[in-house]
Amino acid sequence: MMPERMEETQVGVEEIKMSGGYVLSDEILKHKINGSAFDHVYPHTASNSLNNLDIFTKGQPFDLYEELREKAPVYFHNPMPIDPEPGYWVLTKYEDIKYVSMNPKIFSSQYASGNLLTLGTEENRHPKLFKSTIDHMLNLDGEMHLGLRKEHMPFFKAGHVDELRQKVSLKVTELLDAIAPKGECNLVQEVSQQLPIFTLSEILGIPESDRQKLVSWMEFLELAQYFTYEMIKEQNEGKTDSTPDPAMIDMFNAMVDEMFEYGRFILKEKRKNPANDLLSAIANAEINGEKLSDEFLDGSWLLIIFAGNDTTRNTMSGGIKLLHENQEQKEMLINDLELLPNFINETVRCVSPVIHMRRTSLEETEINGQKIGPYEKIALWYGAANRDPSVFEDPNKFNILRDNADKHLAFGIGRHTCIGKPIALMQLQEFYSQFLVRFQDFEMNGDWKVAPNNFVHAIQEMPIKYSPEN
Ligand code: HEM
Repeated sequence: MMPERMEETQVGVEEIKMSGGYVLSDEILKHKINGSAFDHVYPHTASNSLNNLDIFTKGQPFDLYEELREKAPVYFHNPMPIDPEPGYWVLTKYEDIKYVSMNPKIFSSQYASGNLLTLGTEENRHPKLFKSTIDHMLNLDGEMHLGLRKEHMPFFKAGHVDELRQKVSLKVTELLDAIAPKGECNLVQEVSQQLPIFTLSEILGIPESDRQKLVSWMEFLELAQYFTYEMIKEQNEGKTDSTPDPAMIDMFNAMVDEMFEYGRFILKEKRKNPANDLLSAIANAEINGEKLSDEFLDGSWLLIIFAGNDTTRNTMSGGIKLLHENQEQKEMLINDLELLPNFINETVRCVSPVIHMRRTSLEETEINGQKIGPYEKIALWYGAANRDPSVFEDPNKFNILRDNADKHLAFGIGRHTCIGKPIALMQLQEFYSQFLVRFQDFEMNGDWKVAPNNFVHAIQEMPIKYSPEN
């Protein structure tokens, strides 16, 4: 299955080689990760495993986070089943996560794949997906990171966001017009996944005819972690035939190929004919005085379409669930839309759509009394930080009047703080400000469905009902 525009031009991926240049993924594979060098000062056996993706289908395991925060705030976790490396430290306290994020010289994003807990074993890696989950700015430290981030910056500044706001507002109206007469819908499919695709495509400069492809790519990417996890689980149980079935895996691989071919195609176009859009900036950006390597172009493409889509989409749907479950807060908000900005902060805090990011220690150090050796893996569990009672009073309560809701760490903190935060907040504002006026009596209409994933909280279905508009 090739993208339409690729068929038109008959450009194959091999022909779209654009440059040599820096490739991080080649470098980090040589890096070794250590287990825990020092005695554990918080000995504890967790009641469940954060590697168990099934538990994430019920929402994030906030009880487990609480248990770890109380009993072992720096907890050494056994490795993901697909991980040939030793385990990882789990941080669940707000101050510890902030400390690590603010000290990139000790806690590197670059040393060994900044964002992922595991790269899996070689035989389980999709060659392209594997490299491109590494080769992007989220996984760079120091000057290289700052330089590449600077190229992205103009498209996330206030003036640009304001220009975009008007288009986003019109798109929200169009999406809500489409669901209004029906009286019920799956909010994810019809609104939450459509709006971020629209917004991102506007920022990136993706033609309208190609935008729907992004939706399918996202759905498959969310399942990537699960496919590998299921296979390993079955192999460990002695089964020789792997699930999900091979046809599903073939389809997954075809989707991934299509996504990267399209990325290279459009980036090549933007390198030849730059426009005033983010993809042109990426296509023409440089690291160490050289244009980005093909691997970095693939990676930057993957990062931006993934980070820019899923996160906002899941916050949008998650907020609807929170309002449904907290009717008094819903009424208060509908009666006073001035509360919207704080409601949005509180929603992002409670949903925390990015579940964790990872860092690697570069030297012997200490976190909250626990000594850590060099080259140990550390995972920052944002949803746990955001419910830390030492920062947020009565943290499990959804409270749109909370006076420090904006102190949450859901966007990260420090050098890698989410660059898309203003875009995310603007979309949420535009969506809720219209939705809450037009669909005041909305309710959930059945159960939600969440993907088995411990990296992003990925809501796949959110059935709602409301009085239809004529
Ligand atoms: C509610 C929505 C969002 C949340 C919760 C979120 C969360 C995050 C987090 C936790 C990080 C990593 C921080 C770290 O490692 O220290 C991040 C980085 C990033 N986000 Fe977001 N994000 C959201 C929306 C967006 C949007 C809409 C875009 C793009 C349009 C975007 C693009 C990025 C990029 C490019 C990075 C990498 C920044 C860097 O490495 O310097 N995000 N985001």
